[in-house]
Amino acid sequence: MSTSDAATFRLGVLGSGKGSNFVALAEACRTGQVPARVALVLSDVADAGILDRARERGISAEYLAPGRYRTKLDEVSEPAYVEALQAVKVDLVVLAGFMRILKGDFLRAFPQRVVNIHPSLLPAFPGLEAWRQALEYGVRVTGVTVHLVDHGIDTGPIVAQEAVPVLDDDTPATLHERLQRVEHRLYPAAVAAMATGRIRVDGRRVVGGPSAMGMGTEA
Ligand code: GRF
Repeated sequence: MSTSDAATFRLGVLGSGKGSNFVALAEACRTGQVPARVALVLSDVADAGILDRARERGISAEYLAPGRYRTKLDEVSEPAYVEALQAVKVDLVVLAGFMRILKGDFLRAFPQRVVNIHPSLLPAFPGLEAWRQALEYGVRVTGVTVHLVDHGIDTGPIVAQEAVPVLDDDTPATLHERLQRVEHRLYPAAVAAMATGRIRVDGRRVVGGPSAMGMGTEA
């Protein structure tokens, strides 16, 4: 199937940072592991690495000014993000390190079609620097969560989770790096499940996502 086929599942990726999850996803699309293509990358940070990573792959990438708030999009910028994504007919909005809260009209424009990745086993350690929170709390196991985005912060229905051990000599940097290696595998797997229509949302429960790995599901 040609990548310009109208039937191709189209992703819009939003990110504020270096874009390593975007790269993992774009590679998985290129190799066919994820039956989708990235139609557009948007960033609220003009010099974000994610924009460079997209452009060097020939993927459309735009900086869209976020407006006057620090943690969310303002009344002018939010509709601009929605319009840019709708203009290229995205089927799924993928947050890949997007550092602003999306609410209201944005979520209504893409109902149950916005997905995020978070570096902890939610509902533990929502918010910023979850790996540092895990280390400071002293948990022996943390992990990665892929979830649908709702009005809360890191609260939406969970699509996929994978546990990651905390080692005795971990620093925030080494734990974050181990979590990111898992993110780069789990996010494409979760997006593939969504692109192929395998998941079903039933209240808070999402059925059909990638199964948890290394979690001893055998009887
Ligand atoms: C990831 O650790 C993700 O869990 C969090 O933001 C980070 C983005 O990293 N939501 P990158 O820009 O994809 O490298």
